[in-house]
Amino acid sequence: MSKVFDYAEVAKHNTAESCWVVLYGNVYDVTNFIPEHPGGSKVILQLAGTDATEEYDPIHPPGILEENLKPEAKLGTIDPDTLPSAEKSPVETGEAVQEGPVDLENLLNLDEIEEVATKQISHKAWAYYFSAADDLGSKNFNNQVYRQILLRPRVFVDCVKCDTSTSFLGHNVKLPIYVSPAAMARLAHPDGEHGIAQACERYGAMHLISQNASMTPEQIVADATPGQVFGWQLYVQNERHKSEAMLARINKLPAIKYICLTLDAPVPGKRELDEKSKNVASNLPTPSSVQGSGSVSTTSTDAKTPAAPKAMGMGQSLFWGTAADLTWKTTLPWLAEHTDLPIVLKGLQTHEDAYLASLHAPQVKAIILSNHGGRALDTAPPAVHTLLEIRKYCPEVLDRVEVWVDGGIKRGTDVVKALCLGARGVGIGRGALYGLGAGGTEGVARVLEILKAETETCMRLLGVERVDQLGMQYINTRAVERDIYDGPAALERPSLWAMAKAKL
Ligand code: LAC
Repeated sequence: MSKVFDYAEVAKHNTAESCWVVLYGNVYDVTNFIPEHPGGSKVILQLAGTDATEEYDPIHPPGILEENLKPEAKLGTIDPDTLPSAEKSPVETGEAVQEGPVDLENLLNLDEIEEVATKQISHKAWAYYFSAADDLGSKNFNNQVYRQILLRPRVFVDCVKCDTSTSFLGHNVKLPIYVSPAAMARLAHPDGEHGIAQACERYGAMHLISQNASMTPEQIVADATPGQVFGWQLYVQNERHKSEAMLARINKLPAIKYICLTLDAPVPGKRELDEKSKNVASNLPTPSSVQGSGSVSTTSTDAKTPAAPKAMGMGQSLFWGTAADLTWKTTLPWLAEHTDLPIVLKGLQTHEDAYLASLHAPQVKAIILSNHGGRALDTAPPAVHTLLEIRKYCPEVLDRVEVWVDGGIKRGTDVVKALCLGARGVGIGRGALYGLGAGGTEGVARVLEILKAETETCMRLLGVERVDQLGMQYINTRAVERDIYDGPAALERPSLWAMAKAKL
């Protein structure tokens, strides 16, 4: 018979020396696990001596508790009558904004889906998803830049047929739209990343699984059909053996076809909305055991052994332990030792880096032009700018590697414009999470349905039947070209400008 504890007893164990938490009605002694926690010690210590279930559940894959804690860490169960009364949810208090199930058919575009999701999900989830760095400049510009590009429709073209299918790294897909690695889907809906995978299956879309998913990769691909295409995002950890162990796990999952190494956020951007939101680290009173202990209560600029920031948003806690010391020279050879899967480099934002990446083909098979949804460096360029830079300075990149883009995609016309510029595919991150928030798996399916239909309408109105026919002749980018980088290329090859001058 397991021991039954009073909450008052649990509450006494609220220090780094003796740290107990209640999870799913069970009492755990997590003292020895504190230094191991991937999210850092502060988060656990702030929940020490409390029922942590509500904070813990949406951001941890089911089963991970048993995987990480020794059986003896489970001390017993909690007497539910002794628990303090929980804060009531908007549904319980009758304050829920949404009455009855959402009529997804009536949501006609991604903005409407975002609006509904915003009302349905917790403020904390919304703040984490919506937030971006500093003044949200890059986040907003990612979308606006597509409005600056005009389309050039041709007429008198038979547009009865329209085919959105394409391939990524040689794997056939039905859509040039994929789901980007976006963290913590179960914050939006219990269907989580498995739900995203199911919706992708229905539309033949690729799913790039986040390293910070709230379900394990095994759970996410569990019901994958033979033709389904997944990638897995890698954030290399300071403790390399942890990344190596994850790669070994991924190598065993045939549904996962490549590793996507993320480079655009070696450290998280300053996301004020996320920092301010009601989350574990910023809102709970800091127990005395944490206060004044130098290693967890001060800020630090040493990215290798950082101390926890004072107010830690969801983003910052997820970035805990992420390596900031990756280089062209060391990281790709290290990766080659641990996986034979092709590598996709995510987060390139200049033509110089795109060019350097292309020199690493065939290990590197694709690059993703991304500013991390504006969540890393504010005023970093949108993917459209980098794509135009590549076309201007080193178009050979487009022949050497596949070029994918993400950030700001909200309409089928955005998808088509990116493809006209030379992108092989476009990723949607927040869009999928908002879809989940609006209607679980069905909500994500609705997002894909809308984008597919809008993409088809756009292609038909342009007079284009297949995605491989899309090209620069269908767009007018003059308004954007004015703003494309024109300085010296930080490469050991002459820039176009230097070459032109030499001819004079
Ligand atoms: C983020 C990370 C986890 O942007 O990718 O929040």
